[in-house]
Amino acid sequence: MAEQTVLHVKARLEKPTEYPERFPVPDSLVSWESEYPDYSPPYYVSPVVLRNDSSSNPGGWADPEDISLLKETPRQSFAGMLRLDGKGRALNPAGRTGMAGRGLLGKWGPNYAADPIITCINSTDRSVEMLAVQRRDNGQWAIPGGMVDKGEEISATLTRELREETGVVLDMSLGCLIYQGYVDDPRNTDHAWMETTAKHLHLDPETALRLDPVAGSDARAVRWFPLTPENIGKLYASHCALVKATLVELSRVGRAGVTESEREIVERLLQAL
Ligand code: BGC
Repeated sequence: MAEQTVLHVKARLEKPTEYPERFPVPDSLVSWESEYPDYSPPYYVSPVVLRNDSSSNPGGWADPEDISLLKETPRQSFAGMLRLDGKGRALNPAGRTGMAGRGLLGKWGPNYAADPIITCINSTDRSVEMLAVQRRDNGQWAIPGGMVDKGEEISATLTRELREETGVVLDMSLGCLIYQGYVDDPRNTDHAWMETTAKHLHLDPETALRLDPVAGSDARAVRWFPLTPENIGKLYASHCALVKATLVELSRVGRAGVTESEREIVERLLQAL
């Protein structure tokens, strides 16, 4: 399983257009352990999050803006034990982001997503392919992932998102765990951030051919997406890292469900990355 070992970058240098500018956080001051007396990030919470505040809107998907109304402050996440600030807010486990508040994220602390990764080897040209969606929001190709609903099992989210976005029905509880933890995402703030669980299923060419993918509501298009070095580099958010970790798993000698010739194809692709 891949681990988050590098400093987060998108969470400091990128942002959705509606966010104010992030307060500068140099590499040496990312860690909460490093003293940064002048650190004064702007506070931002999106109007869409406030409209969905579950304390005033019973159908809303967001936590109360007033953190004292929160039933339980998260103390732990896939990233480990969380430290709290003076106001009882869980702090981003990857360190400072230059932005306070929740931004576009609904939950204080970890916001959980799930990423179902489906691969196969194309029976005609023997290239490595992944079932991918073209996102409606930015036109980028992506793993057909989405947010975990309240109280939902992660395997159920993986299966549901795959079905909703691609029309493909597969039992993702049978998938191999590729990654579970923090995601360096442009929406992240000091008090709200993305974490994901990525699981992978590799299909034989006949099974893959029998599937009939249809783009769901959040997707402009769906297709078996050729995993070339160029395409992998252009994937949405941190999906490039998840796909690389998947390829490493697929190239493992003795990986169940992968023939030796398929393993060699994946190995050649990894060498080209
Ligand atoms: C996406 C996931 C992605 C996560 C973190 C979610 O909104 O649906 O595919 O991994 O954000 O970037």
